[in-house]
Amino acid sequence: MAKLPDSFLDALRASNEITAVMSSYVEIKRAGRDYVCSCPFHSERTPSCHIYTETQSFYCFGCGAGGDVITFIRLIEHLEYMESVKFLAQRAGLSMPDETNDGGANMRTRLLGMNREAARYFRDVLLSPEGREGLDYLAGRQLTPNTIKKYGLGFAPDGWHNLQYYLRTKGYSDDEMEAGALLVRRNNSVYDKFRRRVMFPIIDRRGNVIAFGGRTLEKDAPAKYLNSDETLVFRKRENLFSLNFAKNTKEKFLILCEGYMDVISLNQAGFDNTVATLGTAITPQQANVMKQYAQEVVISYDADGAGQNATMKAINLLSEAGITARVLNIPDAKDPDEYIKKFGAESFRQLLSGTSTAIDHEFGRLKKGIDTGVPSGKAEFLRRAVPFLAKIRSDTDRTVYISEAARITGQPLNAVTELVNDRIKYDRRNERRSEERELIRGTVKRDPINPDAVSYPREEKAERGIIAYMFHSPDLLPRVERSLSPEDFPTEFNRKVYSFIANRIKNGETVDISSIGSEFTAEEVGRITGICRHGDTLPYSIPQLNEYIDVLVKHREKSTEKPVSELTDEEMLRRIEDIRRRKAETG
Ligand code: UTP
Ligand code: MN
Repeated sequence: MAKLPDSFLDALRASNEITAVMSSYVEIKRAGRDYVCSCPFHSERTPSCHIYTETQSFYCFGCGAGGDVITFIRLIEHLEYMESVKFLAQRAGLSMPDETNDGGANMRTRLLGMNREAARYFRDVLLSPEGREGLDYLAGRQLTPNTIKKYGLGFAPDGWHNLQYYLRTKGYSDDEMEAGALLVRRNNSVYDKFRRRVMFPIIDRRGNVIAFGGRTLEKDAPAKYLNSDETLVFRKRENLFSLNFAKNTKEKFLILCEGYMDVISLNQAGFDNTVATLGTAITPQQANVMKQYAQEVVISYDADGAGQNATMKAINLLSEAGITARVLNIPDAKDPDEYIKKFGAESFRQLLSGTSTAIDHEFGRLKKGIDTGVPSGKAEFLRRAVPFLAKIRSDTDRTVYISEAARITGQPLNAVTELVNDRIKYDRRNERRSEERELIRGTVKRDPINPDAVSYPREEKAERGIIAYMFHSPDLLPRVERSLSPEDFPTEFNRKVYSFIANRIKNGETVDISSIGSEFTAEEVGRITGICRHGDTLPYSIPQLNEYIDVLVKHREKSTEKPVSELTDEEMLRRIEDIRRRKAETG
């Protein structure tokens, strides 16, 4: 990948202050010299993401995300490194040094261009004689021409190569179509993924067509809806259908539905604040995205059992993201789409104003079939409610719920509280037990970034110590190099980090979090930031550094003990130096 000059990156960072950039995504609060915020990369209630003004970096102690402002943009906007740089350059009105382009960014641009062409094609087909049955279908579902246009709906005709041949005329290769999940390859043949389906383009917040959903017109197709597989430009868990419209709503809340058609019907009926997940259960990432636009979400899932189960999960996820969840129960219709058709928009608006809070909804569920007016009913209710209450992670939420349970049963508050607390302890014991079992089974937590770490716990810690020193005092590199070469780092990831830093120092370049961004993935940058942050607590004394070096030296000696006669000159010198130093320190 083309390397950007440090001077440019410095200018880029100087004109994109990390606090300014981050505060446009999350609410940041001053904490002494620095800032904290609720981490946008995982759900949490107490802010554990720290922003360091001096080093212009951030680090989340909860999930380990971290890095400089470029890394932040990579993570939050889901962009490649070079794209993030361009994004920030644009934000600050800087021009890029020269057209530096990396493969990833190019490919993204190609796929987005291709998706746009595909959407255009599907739309044109829908309006042509070939798309007649698609248009009839949409008309049958009472969508107006305006709605069809607004959502860019289309039709994928029957046949195996329609889109493929069209996109070829637009200069896209089969490989690109396959990478964009528009073409399926099986046993050396390729064919269109979407056939005889009404097409719903999925559009991200910036207006890019990132994927498609397609509804079949066959009576007994195995899948009613087919969605694009994940691609370089499409991550299901992070996107919401119709967010491109909902993000501009004037309403203070969002409506979360299950299906494409629910969203489109509601929009047509004037509810522009509606979104849906993309054929999957709601994820924490989606909850966080919604949080950026609304403090409150009304869950409006299907009336069937699956919808009700999904509602419970969504309540939990949303409240973990700090969103107030309300639940809309749909009477006499299977989903919002059908409800609107049967009873009209005004009636839906009334349902909306009568939504129950998540708490009422949950208690309604718990109370079902129980008469809480009689002692046996009270007991039965508590038997159901206590395990549920014990699972509520937020203390404040739990307190509110417990007092409601006490009110319903007419029991003293502290009695119910105690029941719940006992249950929490019981759950914890069980959790610990199953953790222990897992440990015994040998399924220790693996470290995806540095898989070698489990094999060398002591050495890995020493490696991190040394890396932290190199960030803090690059001038100590010669001291490390006197005893160690990169090969002496037993874990591959830390070895790579160390080599990279050592090379920069030797080239007289600065070492900071930003300088590593181009070489490592965003997750890796998070880990490295963590190493540096941890380094903040180090004493930074030569003896401490020597201790770390010693751990690795001993490891090398153990694993490569060679007779002196076989040592190379360099190895010999190093061994002598080690011995000399150890003598000097102990003597
Ligand atoms: P539904 O079956 O409730 O969709 O699935 P719907 O919108 O009510 O269906 P019709 O068109 O009115 O008959 C809800 C959502 O689940 C996903 C789709 O995103 C759909 O909108 N889904 C459903 C799939 O991804 N695949 C399927 O086969 C079915
Ligand atoms: Mn439905």
